[in-house]
Amino acid sequence: MVKIAPSILSANLMHMHDEIQSIDNNGSEYIHIDVMDGHYVDNLTFGANMVKSIRPMTRKVLDVHLMITPVKKYIDEYIKAGSDIISFHPEADNNSKDVIKQIKSANLKAGIAVHPRVSINEITEFLDLIDMVIVMTVVPGFGGQKFMLSEINKITELANIRKQRNLNYEIEVDGGINSETAQICKDANADVLVAGSYIFSGGKENYKKMIDSLR
Ligand code: DX5
Ligand code: ZN
Repeated sequence: MVKIAPSILSANLMHMHDEIQSIDNNGSEYIHIDVMDGHYVDNLTFGANMVKSIRPMTRKVLDVHLMITPVKKYIDEYIKAGSDIISFHPEADNNSKDVIKQIKSANLKAGIAVHPRVSINEITEFLDLIDMVIVMTVVPGFGGQKFMLSEINKITELANIRKQRNLNYEIEVDGGINSETAQICKDANADVLVAGSYIFSGGKENYKKMIDSLR
């Protein structure tokens, strides 16, 4: 069954403890934390201190999505903060293999995030080194954008490569997920769905319904 990763970008930051407990209790497998630096993307969110604050609130997988440049010099603080998976955009630095090594040697999972302007060809060299690929179905930077159907073939391509090369990375889809676009992603063999505005805009009493509707 597909895993659900609510993105706390759309959560109520004033009540983070409540929000984390609700998505944890309502069955989400991962908690997706969008780190934006106002430089790699046109928006600024939170940093390693947010990961560190959330860590004691849940035992669920903290799925940290770095939208920052450069990448390498910040990795250590995200490791120390208690991340379980750290994903980054390879074009945001020039030492992606080192970054992957650094994450893996701390016994964490490493992921590569694929911006809509980056093709799968440009990341194939990393596929046997990593645990996750994030297929971005919006231009990274903001929650609440429209799902880009044009990116679906990347999910299929990644699923095919995984089979051919006997690899085992998870395919996560991030951006514009709702019950309809979730179905398209599942049909293309996605393993994890990130959803921000869809889950959190429904109000706390509906989190379970929203999460379940993505399965
Ligand atoms: C976008 C972020 C997403 C975002 C998704 O740059 O990477 O994780 O929170 O938000 P929705 O689900 O609202 O598209
Ligand atoms: Zn994200």
